[in-house]
Amino acid sequence: MAGFNQAYSAVLGALQRAFGGKPEQLAGSLGAMCALRDMAQALMRMPIGQGPGTAGPSFEYVAPEHRSEGIARAGISVRPHGPYIVKGAVTLLHKRTIRSERSEALTWTTEGELETGATYALCRCGASARKPFCDGSHARVGFDGTETADPGPVADRQTIREVPPLRIKEDHSLCSKAGFCVNRFGRLAQLGDDAEDVRVRSQVIAIIEHCPSGALSCEIRTQDGAGAEALIPVEPDLPREIAVTARGPLWVTGGIPIERADGRPVDVRNRVVLCRCGQSKNKPFCDGSHIDIGFQG
Ligand code: FES
Repeated sequence: MAGFNQAYSAVLGALQRAFGGKPEQLAGSLGAMCALRDMAQALMRMPIGQGPGTAGPSFEYVAPEHRSEGIARAGISVRPHGPYIVKGAVTLLHKRTIRSERSEALTWTTEGELETGATYALCRCGASARKPFCDGSHARVGFDGTETADPGPVADRQTIREVPPLRIKEDHSLCSKAGFCVNRFGRLAQLGDDAEDVRVRSQVIAIIEHCPSGALSCEIRTQDGAGAEALIPVEPDLPREIAVTARGPLWVTGGIPIERADGRPVDVRNRVVLCRCGQSKNKPFCDGSHIDIGFQG
């Protein structure tokens, strides 16, 4: 009830700002409205006392200085045939791939943060006129957001390739075709065969670390702090944030929990890419279909 009233008061504040001269805040507040509905429904399923009655929202105003929603636990929930609802004041920014003169993907650059509330909704259907935010277009276009991705653990789908001292793991179903694993000299598969050479090894690790989807990951056989041989995961230190990639997916980093529309949790991982063009055949994840359709979001 306290959480509902805080969220309700935040929505009132966002609406007041939107109608008071900042109309761009209206689209951003749609997510908070969806979250409000979820909380109201949860309250209305909550039994009170011994009788048949349930709790319900009381719509009490809570002043900003008495709210704590900004520190709510970060998380993303996928709405059935609707947007992604992001809670917990997760940073949202733009990112773009830096490419070579032959359009080979080299690295990432950050291009500015977007203004959001503590809760916001991101477009999943690709039809919003206010991308990356949801503007309700999913209902207008009859978006079919059925999740087709295998709900099982990533580890069950990974293929392992031993390229001493590296152990390369790949879950191809998560590949978003970001292109970091291929350049004019070949593909990762060819580079990786010679990982005894430290120049090749560092190149392979850089390629894997730039893979936004985490379809590629690796471990390296080396010595631990005590001098014993150990297999150590190689994983970039990524912040807890969501990057809207140019004409591509949402790149979710830092282990933000994601709940599918069917209520099942997604494996919590350091990096995941979520479809925002609406065309992935592996929803909610991106499968590179945005490239095939020339997505302009
Ligand atoms: S954004 Fe990549 S498939 Fe939709």
